[in-house]
Amino acid sequence: MKKIFVFSVLAATALTLSYCSSSKKTAAAPKTTYETGVATVIMDNCAPCHITSKGGRKKPYDNFVNLKTDIDDILARVQMAPTDRGFMPFRATTRISDSAIAVLKKWKADGLLEK
Ligand code: HEC
Repeated sequence: MKKIFVFSVLAATALTLSYCSSSKKTAAAPKTTYETGVATVIMDNCAPCHITSKGGRKKPYDNFVNLKTDIDDILARVQMAPTDRGFMPFRATTRISDSAIAVLKKWKADGLLEK
């Protein structure tokens, strides 16, 4: 009898724990941060011009502070028509991918976090 009791307590605990951890996962979608997304998007799309270590001479966007300060200008420029004045990436004929733009938008919505 005692064994059965111990077993059911364990089973109930296991159920509760697995329920808690799975519900937590769905509730809190990970936030997009500079380190977990934005840095890669910028490196892939805005190098070499804005990446000092790649020889870029334009405003450096290989750092969190400049990106955070200029995010509105950046979002506006990457969503312009490629023929518009001020469109970025400079002289490209197509926009950066929708998923890359989505990363930048989500970063702003999530509060412009560094990490
Ligand atoms: C081929 C080189 C090149 C690439 C790639 C490029 N840029 Fe630029 N960027 C420039 C030049 C040249 C200027 C200055 C001319 C201007 O302001 O229109 C500039 C200026 C800017 C400015 C204004 C900065 C300031 O000085 O106030 C922003 C914002 C910007 N770029 C964002 C981006 C973003 C975001 C990307 C990547 C998606 C990107 N650029 C890719 C060449 C580039």
